[in-house]
Amino acid sequence: MALWAGRFTKEINENVNAFNSSLSFDARMYKHDIMGSKAHAKMLAQQHIIDEESLNEILTGLNEILHEIETGELLFDPTAEDIHMFIESELTKKYPVSGKKLHTARSRNDQVALDLRLYTRDEMKEIKDMLINLINVIIEQASQHLETIMCGYTHLQRAQPITFAHHLMAYAEMFYRDITRIEDCYERMNVSPLGSGALATTTYPIDRMYVATLLDMDGITDNSLDGVSDRDYAIEFASALATIMMHLSRFSEEMILWCSWEFKYVELDDAYATGSSIMPQKKNPDIAELVRGKSARVIGDVSTLLTMMKGLPLAYNKDMQEDKEALFDAIDTVKLCLPVFTDMLKTMKVNKDKMREFAAKGFINATDCADYLVKHGKAFRDAYKTTGQLVAYCIEHDFVLETLPLDVYQQFDTTFEESIYDAISLDTCVMNRKVDGGPSPVAVQKSIEKMQKKVKTL
Ligand code: ARG
Repeated sequence: MALWAGRFTKEINENVNAFNSSLSFDARMYKHDIMGSKAHAKMLAQQHIIDEESLNEILTGLNEILHEIETGELLFDPTAEDIHMFIESELTKKYPVSGKKLHTARSRNDQVALDLRLYTRDEMKEIKDMLINLINVIIEQASQHLETIMCGYTHLQRAQPITFAHHLMAYAEMFYRDITRIEDCYERMNVSPLGSGALATTTYPIDRMYVATLLDMDGITDNSLDGVSDRDYAIEFASALATIMMHLSRFSEEMILWCSWEFKYVELDDAYATGSSIMPQKKNPDIAELVRGKSARVIGDVSTLLTMMKGLPLAYNKDMQEDKEALFDAIDTVKLCLPVFTDMLKTMKVNKDKMREFAAKGFINATDCADYLVKHGKAFRDAYKTTGQLVAYCIEHDFVLETLPLDVYQQFDTTFEESIYDAISLDTCVMNRKVDGGPSPVAVQKSIEKMQKKVKTL
């Protein structure tokens, strides 16, 4: 019989029980459920709502259950309604008198709201650490490629010269923002809803703040209806996770391009690539493709959560049980992707020559050619036009700006001198972009150091 069976005359239908049960997916919150129950019991005893002896039995029982679950001695009962009911009934089996007192002044509605916050809090820490690792690997790679010239793109068209370090560090910035997004969400989430009861608190003289302190939470929720029915933190965290996946997916897309024969900018370590079952020559970037593919499900998870919540009246509704699978899937997916992507990045080989070769084509120094004229007194729009004509001439006569003879330059504008060749050399183009945030080795080094400092204070 279910713990709530008092007003019922029949056993629940087997299919309904299975349909109703969340144990198969909420069992993973067992540790947090026990942690929350211990704090609740301590508070009940402190407030003289239960006696010390009951408290001791409850704590002993919960510790035993935790141990037994972890050693595999106690298996989850698939017919239990959820993890909260399972643990309470196991406790009651062990200590029938005290176990029945645990749920005093509490509802599963505030219990599950608390458990999910505690669970999410731990996952946030783990994901944050994974992001820090990824940033460190990006920094490691970037530091080796401060002077590796590469073509920068807009519209996937060759645009201006940058360095590989500069390109990589753009991703470090994204992943750093992802960390701050998680921290931001953590701050709003780390308050205790326990004491909200089913919806309207309780008449017992409970001490909500004491429970929060025991659980290392920064405060309590200030409205009991909101306390039991708020899932904003799940939505915010899932959105942060979707943003991480979006970043990883963009990075993956570039890795896939870079691994192609057309680019060959990078070569993946054999341990981080796969072959084809039919084409012997293939080395496929499956990790990057899967990460790109998996971003879809995390984006879907955010949508699931928002859609599940949007029509719910206050306060708790059973629909909200659906929050877990979506949130857990988003968490699991990110935790699956981050380490493997990080290792793939760490072990890849970079083909500097190929990057340089591509950078030398496509007139990516045309802006610098125009800037040369501006620095010699021309208006930018005139300089822009002249350079456009030069580029057209080069395309027609099979030159690049570096190989175009000076007398041809001078036919277009007499301002051009021998110094044009130095001004448009790719090295000069990159070295001179020393502006903060720019591609020059000095500027990138500066942003690496800034990032290292920020990461250290996390
Ligand atoms: N398993 C439930 C959930 O995840 C716990 C809360 C159940 N509350 C209730 N009133 N039936 O939402």
